[in-house]
Amino acid sequence: MLHRGTDFTLFRFLARPLAAASASVRAVNVSPVLAAQATYPFVRIEQAKRAAAAKGVEIFDFGPGDPREPTDPLIRQALVDALAETRGYPKAEGLPELRAAIAGWLDRRFGASVDPDTEIVPTYGSKEAIFSFAQVVVDPVRGKDLVLVTEPGYPVPERGALFAGARVVHLPLREESGFLPDLDAIDEETLARTAILWLNYPNNPTATVAPLALFERAAELAAEHDFLLASDEAYTELWFNEPPPSALQVGDRSNVVVFNTLSKRSSMTGYRSGFVAGPRWVAEALRAYRPTVGTAPQEFVQRASVTAWDDEAHVARAREVYGRKRDVLLGALAALGWRVAGSEATMYLWVEAPAGEGSEELADSLLRHGIVVAPGAYLGPNGEGYVRIALVPTIEDCERAAAILRGLA
Ligand SMILES: Cc1ncc(COP(=O)(O)O)c(C=O)c1O
Repeated sequence: MLHRGTDFTLFRFLARPLAAASASVRAVNVSPVLAAQATYPFVRIEQAKRAAAAKGVEIFDFGPGDPREPTDPLIRQALVDALAETRGYPKAEGLPELRAAIAGWLDRRFGASVDPDTEIVPTYGSKEAIFSFAQVVVDPVRGKDLVLVTEPGYPVPERGALFAGARVVHLPLREESGFLPDLDAIDEETLARTAILWLNYPNNPTATVAPLALFERAAELAAEHDFLLASDEAYTELWFNEPPPSALQVGDRSNVVVFNTLSKRSSMTGYRSGFVAGPRWVAEALRAYRPTVGTAPQEFVQRASVTAWDDEAHVARAREVYGRKRDVLLGALAALGWRVAGSEATMYLWVEAPAGEGSEELADSLLRHGIVVAPGAYLGPNGEGYVRIALVPTIEDCERAAAILRGLA
């Protein structure tokens, strides 16, 4: 059994909305959308982790999905080689060499033919592009005011939609449906008002892969009801058995927009480099919008990114390392008798909390032993009853953490 003291509750008190948590925020006119939001989940987890570390607990951080594997030396060298004496502002359209490298990768990996000049826009990682996408395409005047997001999920599409003044509709991901949304349960009025349907497969946090048929159905509905299927594909390269599909592989791509990134594939979170690939008009709209925001990646990062998209060997090595970490953790969880509900792809394990335990309660208990995990409830109400384990510590630390877990049996 896990030890449960009463003097060591680290997670719960951090969940209040900003307006309730901060008197100074209440006193000034911040955006009501911001004031209503609870602290960003991973900020809460970081706070809990620091509080535990301050009490002298040795930390094994399986919280945020921030890879700690070294970025391949080839990529780092390309960045250094690209550091010129002066570098002006990067342009929103990105370097032609980078767009060509991305198009080449999409063709090799998914057999998708995408025009590098008219259908690809490089982005500053994918988070900012996901966050701001609603600002580019939501149009309440035309009756397109809804953004559909899956839940539990990465919080950014929802938060971006709220800041853009859209209304958000949650599509629950439940285990009995294989953590896939039931698209055919969405009513006609909702479909008519939908501007964006967000899907994210391989899925954070449930570690599930979607069949191409889900993308096909979503793309079909998008074309029929005049909305965009926005497919967040941050984890397509972190798989264990078979490479997962992309929404770019559907028959009719006219309403499909794909977001991908080097962050997870190439352990390049700190570089900030991703892309959007979609219909000409979407790329054009992004090129019109993005110079105002100023989020084009620095030119030396773009040049390093060309090297990263052109090389698959370092990605295969990363997959092999994640596979070994996964085996170590799966072994320990099996010894504990805990059920892993999802571990098909991504860098996450989606683990069911033992009978009756809340996700935050379980995360708290594990933190007392130095093991940081994300409570599923932080990622949406349907995440209650699960915790997410990010396979980011080194293999040695995974082994040490696994030994601690086995000791809890
Ligand atoms: C589902 C999902 N999409 C997108 C991202 C954004 O990653 P980045 O901005 O580093 O490209 C993340 C990061 O954790 C993620 O989990």
